Amino acid sequence: MEVIFENVSADYQLGPIRSPLVLHSVDVTIQSGSYTAVVGYTGAGKSSLLKAMNGLLLPKEGQISIGHLLIKPDKNKKALKSIRKRVGMVFQFPESQLFAETVEKDICFGPINFGVPKTEAKEIAKQVLEQVGLQQDILTKSPFSLSGGQKRRVAIAGILAMQPDILVLDEPGAGLDPNGRKEIMDLIASWHQDRGMTTVLVTHDMEDVVTYADSVIVMEKGQVVLHDDVEKVFSNHEQLEKWHLDVPDARRFQLNFEKQTGILLPKVCLTVDDLADAFIEVGLA
Ligand SMILES: Nc1ncnc2c1ncn2[C@@H]1O[C@H](COP(=O)(O)OP(=O)(O)O)[C@@H](O)[C@H]1O
Ligand SMILES: [Mg+2]
Repeated sequence: MEVIFENVSADYQLGPIRSPLVLHSVDVTIQSGSYTAVVGYTGAGKSSLLKAMNGLLLPKEGQISIGHLLIKPDKNKKALKSIRKRVGMVFQFPESQLFAETVEKDICFGPINFGVPKTEAKEIAKQVLEQVGLQQDILTKSPFSLSGGQKRRVAIAGILAMQPDILVLDEPGAGLDPNGRKEIMDLIASWHQDRGMTTVLVTHDMEDVVTYADSVIVMEKGQVVLHDDVEKVFSNHEQLEKWHLDVPDARRFQLNFEKQTGILLPKVCLTVDDLADAFIEVGLA
């Protein structure tokens, strides 16, 4: 399912007044089945872009199409409900939204709210629990008795239980240890691959971008300033610096090497394997 932003501007209600625009005339198309990373400095509007995709932040101008569904400034609540079913949103620190007495009730809440019968919801809960790599005996436990990584998986399972077409994640690895982070990121990659689920990931980690994404949206000051494939985005490091963005480790190594030796490698290196190939090609390995 494709997501198309057309001239979208948005702001927040701040008590009696509106905030300055947090999205400025955003025009961007997220291809169906793509894995798109959204990067940008803190405050650039990444989380706001995700919220706009699921109707939590309504456009002030413009429109967003999610497949054949439309989000417009005057969207009514009923239409937004079908959009929220299609676009599964995993917030930052999603475990803070766990609330039920048992894991099963927590996971079943979304589907039941969307009209799935209780017995069917329980079946779905079992399946998604397996998909996030947790044992069935956890279903009867309190979500609050689990470890940090387990809580996060349960929270993500609750989103998967709604069987969305698009999965939108705001820094899903934040606050986990490196192993926990990798496990979550690998799980997301496998849902993306197995189901061709359109996946949109906000991350600060450029290694994640290189490892998992196929295209990148760069945001700055509420605008989409670049949307291209991963290699093209990292080829222009001077521009990235202006946006306060880092490059992957291998690319940084390449840039330092080229500066110190004056030898230019034949391609943009994003991984250690790319570096090895490039060194062989120029006869240095
Ligand atoms: N709920 C909110 N109410 C008012 N302003 C907000 C709210 N959430 C975010 N903002 C503002 O919107 C801008 C973009 O924030 P955000 O989308 O969270 O950026 P990012 O995720 O890239 O850090 C910031 O200036 C931020 O202060
Ligand atoms: Mg954010």
